[in-house]
Order: sequence, then C-alpha cells, then structure tokens
Amino acid sequence: MAMATSVRAGIGANCLINAGDIHIYINFVDGLVQPYTDQPFGFRFDIARDLVENVVAKRAVDWSNSLFLSARFTAWRAGDYNEYIYNFFKSLSVERMSRTESEAKSKLNGVPSNEGDIEIGDYTVQRRCPHRNADLSVFGEIDGDDLVCTLHGWRFDLETGACRNAEERPIRVNKRS
Ligand code: FES
Repeated sequence: MAMATSVRAGIGANCLINAGDIHIYINFVDGLVQPYTDQPFGFRFDIARDLVENVVAKRAVDWSNSLFLSARFTAWRAGDYNEYIYNFFKSLSVERMSRTESEAKSKLNGVPSNEGDIEIGDYTVQRRCPHRNADLSVFGEIDGDDLVCTLHGWRFDLETGACRNAEERPIRVNKRS
C-alpha cells in the first residue's frame, strides 16, 4: 500500500469488502487496511467468505482472474467506473504493484503528447493503448480484423479504431496506402 501512492490517488476513495461475517476496510486514502467500524467508503464488494478465504489461502496475485471473473460477487460504487481499483486487485504482489504504480503515475501525469505513432503491419497506430498506456510497439498484435493489446487483451477494430472492450476508448488507427 505504501508504495502505491499513484494507484491510491487514482482510486481516490476507500473500499469495504464484506466477506460474510468479516468486514475489511481498505483505506486507500491513508494506505491502511483496517477493521470496518462504519467508516465512509466509495466502493463496496460483497463476496462469500469462503471465496475470499480461498484467494487469500492461494495468495492469488490477481483477484480479477481468480475471483472477479467468476462474477460470484456484487459490487457497488459511489461514482464512475474506476479502473485503478481493479488494477489494484490485479496487482497483489510487489512486482505487479510496482508495475501498476508506474503505469498509474504515467497516466495521472499524462503520457507525453509528442510520442509519434507507430506502424504495426499495414497500419499506423497511436503508440499507447487506451486501457493502461501499454506501449503497442511492444504489446500490439494484429489478429484478423483486430489490433490486440496483449498486455490485458483489449481489442480494437482496425477499420474504425473502435474498442471492443470499452466503447469510450477508441484508438487512432489508419491503414497505410
Ligand atoms: S494496457 Fe491493458 S489492454 Fe492495453
């Protein structure tokens, strides 16, 4: 938690996890995990206790894959969708969190606007993935009609740039003549 100052800033509110009779309060603002005693929160997850105990026992470093993808939970948030909190739960090791922290830092500080576009196959594409700014010269691959960012698997229509995972995150792409 202490190292993830940018991730925590991006999350910007605290989180309550209700795991049956156990209530865990992740105080992102102060960088603490605390017992829940009616503190305010901006995010809430309700997850069966055995599922939480299972991922903790396995020391799962990616709760998205190990738990959330099963859709066996409910969630509530006070504001808009916040990708930083899901990135946090995908990064539960020092190595992952340090990578996520540096991505959050560059996102919050803005990626340099003078980065040139890149070429992938027959296409000229913006360098950064709209998801978490991965460098598409490293992570971008063409798969049929799609450009795929292999870091997390987001796909973009090569014809239009539309993102197939998040409507509001298109990419700039042009076919070279
Ligand atoms: S950075 Fe996550 S899919 Fe590209």
